[in-house]
Amino acid sequence: MKIIQTENYQLMSKLASQHVINTIKQINKPVIGLATGSTPEGLYQHLIKAYHNHEISFANVSTFNLDEYVGLHKENTNSYHYYMQKFLFNHVDIPSKNIHLPNGMANDLNNECTSYENQIQQAGGIHIQILGIGRNGHIGFNEPGTSFESQTHVIDLDESTRKANARFFDSFDNVPKQAITMGIKSIMRSTEILLLVSGSEKADALEKLLNGEVNEDFPASILQTHQNVKIIADKAALRNISCNYVSETM
Ligand code: PGA
Repeated sequence: MKIIQTENYQLMSKLASQHVINTIKQINKPVIGLATGSTPEGLYQHLIKAYHNHEISFANVSTFNLDEYVGLHKENTNSYHYYMQKFLFNHVDIPSKNIHLPNGMANDLNNECTSYENQIQQAGGIHIQILGIGRNGHIGFNEPGTSFESQTHVIDLDESTRKANARFFDSFDNVPKQAITMGIKSIMRSTEILLLVSGSEKADALEKLLNGEVNEDFPASILQTHQNVKIIADKAALRNISCNYVSETM
């Protein structure tokens, strides 16, 4: 696991974008796992800028998002379909056939999960998975207690997750109670994982990820066992961590 510290959120986003840009340039048909939430917004802005500067094209890029709420239409401004269009896809040349998110409106949700997992595997797996972390240690929407063997599945969202995400909704009651998420195993199959962490409110979660025991009660702890994880975190998020094993460059 490599930990890279940046001064602030903006520099975290820039460094992350440089790494993703290099991956896109180096691989013929890159498959990228995408995350939503506040954390990756800056990264997406930099990717859009790189596209406008003719530094990269998304014509050969395929994407798989980690998760989607159950019961929200694609047009709903709180759906992750909408988020991705708004923060990335509308601004770059990615073909729509290359974009994949779970369909939280599917009639048969279990079937949707199986089909999503198959699509990832048919694409040859994910080269680089972008991740954030929840304060309760969730990755994707894999809440505490999720099996490390899980593949894409339907999850009941923790009350704490619904509260954290209520800031985007009119009221707490409008936050969906379920989501479809890639499983822990689906995430762990990625060749590389790029975890972004920003802000002091994530400092305890990051410390537990790095120093806690590997345990399903804290899903992100599994990352300790992945062969190729890079964590780019700002100073505030790393405030509990000794500088000895923190680097300033990729
Ligand atoms: P955030 O969400 O980026 O909005 O903090 C991260 C997460 O809950 O996984």
